[in-house]
Amino acid sequence: MSDQQLRIGVIGTGVMGADHVKTITESVSGARIAAVADLDLDRARAVAEPIGAVASGDALDLIAGETLDGVIIASADRTHAELTLAAIAAGLPVLCEKPLAPTVAECEAIVAAEQAAGRPLVQVGFMRRFDPSYTDLRRRIAAGEIGAALLAHAVHRNVSMPAGWDATATIVNSLVHELDVMPWLLDSPVVEVLWLAARESTRVHYADPQVTLLRLRNGALVTVEVTANAVYGYEVRCETVGELGTLELTTPVTAVQRRGGGVRHDLAADWRPRFAEAYRIELQHWANAIRDTPEHPVAGPGSSDGLVAARLTEAVLRSRETGGWQAVPTTATTASPESGDPE
Ligand code: NAI
Repeated sequence: MSDQQLRIGVIGTGVMGADHVKTITESVSGARIAAVADLDLDRARAVAEPIGAVASGDALDLIAGETLDGVIIASADRTHAELTLAAIAAGLPVLCEKPLAPTVAECEAIVAAEQAAGRPLVQVGFMRRFDPSYTDLRRRIAAGEIGAALLAHAVHRNVSMPAGWDATATIVNSLVHELDVMPWLLDSPVVEVLWLAARESTRVHYADPQVTLLRLRNGALVTVEVTANAVYGYEVRCETVGELGTLELTTPVTAVQRRGGGVRHDLAADWRPRFAEAYRIELQHWANAIRDTPEHPVAGPGSSDGLVAARLTEAVLRSRETGGWQAVPTTATTASPESGDPE
């Protein structure tokens, strides 16, 4: 390992943190994992030892104690605000997994701390903005290929969710991806939202599937279905209807089989294979920004985008309570770079 490589720390070595460690180690140039932390020290060690990284059971120790160039926060949502604030206080660039924090108040505190620090330090893990299929879709909508975009349908299905999951978790944790990516895709902020329950499945005891309608400032309407327990596979779809035609996201597939009178392509079991390329590009952009523009070590959605998503999340939760449309205060979102591939 060259000393030229950025030293990255990862907090939380569960599903997502371990995946980021693997991606940086195997597929991101100019950066290596120097330290990891997890409340479960055995889990941290299992991830750290094969790559010669330091393992710790205390995230704040990692932030304060290691000489790092950046930290990835991939611990539970409820820990994001405290750990992001600690990273800002240490002057450390941070890539915080989505949601930036579950509440508007926590996100506002992060935005304020970053402003007080005098330079951007926080990137949020809305990795779809780097996904080649989403960036192609966005570029072609913006180029006017289908005329003005009038309506979009988004579908987000997980195979299943663990015990303890509920309809609020679907909104705060899964829907939040759509709340970030759809206004970015159609280049107009959300001004009002309406949450609706479908017929309830007998397999779970909370609203699933659920549908949320988003009205954008330019008048476009977005329908979003999120199904937490779709059983059959992991799938994210999106079709935009314009004045002249439609543009639809393609789901990457490795091969299509025709056999026995049928056509088949396999779906991923979860988000990791579907968005592997998005995570890689996201992490490479972030590492490049830390190295090349230390005064601005952020290469994508920032804390203000995390705050906008939290405001939308809270508006959806209010709509669920009231049963009606909820207005959302509009604020400008951070302009994000076209993703491309920096390598
Ligand atoms: P997980 O439950 O598999 O892992 C979380 C890990 O964080 C656990 O090992 C836990 O022990 C550790 N942890 C919790 N509190 C901690 C603390 N204070 N200090 C250190 N470690 C702590 O969860 P998963 O699925 O890996 O999710 C992690 C984060 O990534 C969540 O915020 C989630 O919303 C986000 N996520 C993002 C995805 C994306 O596509 N961008 C996909 C899945 C998750």
